[in-house]
Amino acid sequence: MNRLTVKTPDKKEYDIVLDRGFEALSVELDRLSFAGRRTLIVSDTNVAPLYLEKLETVLNGQNIVTDCIVLPAGEESKSQDNAMMILTKLIELNFKRSDIVIALGGGVIGDISGYVASVYHRGLNFLQIPTTLLSMVDSSVGGKNGVDYGRIKNVLGTFYNPSLVYMNLDALSTLDERQFYNGFAEAMKSALIKDAQYYEWIIENMYEICDRDPATMEELVYRSISIKKLVVEKDFYDLKGERALLNLGHTIGHAIEALKMGELLHGECVALGCVGAAYISHKKNMLSLEEYLEIRDMFVPFNLPITIDSIDLDKVLSNVTKDKKQDNLGLAFVLLKKIGKACVDRTVTSDEIMNALKELEYTDDFE
Ligand SMILES: NC(=O)c1ccc[n+]([C@@H]2O[C@H](COP(=O)([O-])OP(=O)(O)OC[C@H]3O[C@@H](n4cnc5c(N)ncnc54)[C@H](O)[C@@H]3O)[C@@H](O)[C@H]2O)c1
Ligand SMILES: [Zn+2]
Repeated sequence: MNRLTVKTPDKKEYDIVLDRGFEALSVELDRLSFAGRRTLIVSDTNVAPLYLEKLETVLNGQNIVTDCIVLPAGEESKSQDNAMMILTKLIELNFKRSDIVIALGGGVIGDISGYVASVYHRGLNFLQIPTTLLSMVDSSVGGKNGVDYGRIKNVLGTFYNPSLVYMNLDALSTLDERQFYNGFAEAMKSALIKDAQYYEWIIENMYEICDRDPATMEELVYRSISIKKLVVEKDFYDLKGERALLNLGHTIGHAIEALKMGELLHGECVALGCVGAAYISHKKNMLSLEEYLEIRDMFVPFNLPITIDSIDLDKVLSNVTKDKKQDNLGLAFVLLKKIGKACVDRTVTSDEIMNALKELEYTDDFE
């Protein structure tokens, strides 16, 4: 078992526990004095049949009474209507602040549950049990939550920390291949922004990662989340620029995602965005040509795209400049000074972005 403790601005701390199975959760619940309380578990239609019963067995063993809400799997469930539905259930059940909301699922379930937990009576206990690689390496830590407003993603949300993040790494075995590599893209992003040794480790352990070797996956999640922890401890409210580094690949990535909704997953767009950012970094003499090409090609063994076709580059560019990372100082673009060291750059021009997009565009003579 591995454990990390995250410091929060309100001087509370919470633990991230990495284990295989749900058994060790009993000890954690005991440590938090949660025995005998009530919990509402929020999950989705893919995850609940696989893991809900196992989780309930552990909770009931601690005399924790469980109720469940199972949402349809998918981003569409991250809606205000569903948030209201969960809140209504908490009111009907007369939940107290000492009771617990548990998110059992990927980032969609984690985000909506965290949001609900933060607003109900101005905050009740919240436990994250992430089950996708993306939610383990990224969304379950850092305290951001939210729901979408129609097609506008994450526009309603709060900052709210869980009491515990409990990761059952065995859950990764049931993820389909595409979802697995989708999460891997965020792990690769973490290595690129902060940790050259971790990046080298990924290269050395490529086969073990693709095989989802349990010990390798534990190290991958641990190293990724250690980076996220460092960043959010320095800049929890995303005000000091440090947390912005986590947006490597997201400026171009989000712009593509908006046009390829339903076709490309978030991590796939982030991979494309990282390639674009690495290209711009190379053109600005931060990365050598060899480093740029290596970063680009490193996504390929993980089934992540490095080129894109059938997309209107002008529309992508216009989405980039509409991005929320644009403030009165200009567009905050995350570039790589070198592998393992990201920086926020405000000098990236539309021409430079367009050249990067052209580099991403699929052509027959691609080398
Ligand atoms: N709060 C944050 O800081 C943050 C950061 C990044 C992403 N996000 C959000 O996270 C969401 C994406 O998260 P995601 O990629 O985990 O998506 P997701 O929650 O939709 O899960 C992806 C798919 O995998 C299925 N699934 C989950 N666990 C499984 C398992 N163990 N076995 C089999 N199937 C499983 C789900 O049912 C779903 O179909 C987005 O809404 C994004 O905005 C939030
Ligand atoms: Zn992301």
